[in-house]
Amino acid sequence: MKKIAIINGPNLNLLGQREPGIYGNTGFDDALEKLKKTFAEIELDYFQSNIEGELVGALQKFGNYHGIVLNPAAYTHTSVAIGDAIAAIKAPVVEVHISNVHAREDFRKISHVSAKAAGTICGLGLMGYQLAIEYLLKK
Ligand code: DQA
Repeated sequence: MKKIAIINGPNLNLLGQREPGIYGNTGFDDALEKLKKTFAEIELDYFQSNIEGELVGALQKFGNYHGIVLNPAAYTHTSVAIGDAIAAIKAPVVEVHISNVHAREDFRKISHVSAKAAGTICGLGLMGYQLAIEYLLKK
């Protein structure tokens, strides 16, 4: 059975309540339940943390999986360590952002992750996670 992990960064535990005009009204628990139904044929693991080092640890832990879907949230724009962790592991990583980071503040246009990722999906809402898994499964 193929194993794919979803890793979410800081404040994504507040999805559904957090700035709903930008991130929508759906919590990630609901989204994950739907994804698990859609991709019932695979093992879909989930990890969320508000702590940078824990995200690095999760990338290492899932480093031999078929693939990883990563939304590093604000750490996208600051974390050399997360970029280095992606480069260090075998699993292809798809970077996902719910909002269109290029249409927001300038600091969100910088990513320490994109150059190390297989690709990036941004601005497509929660559908981005589904599309990322579809890509990893077809790859
Ligand atoms: C985000 C975009 C980031 O700029 C922001 O810090 C987040 C969420 C997104 O999914 O749109 O927390 O990664």
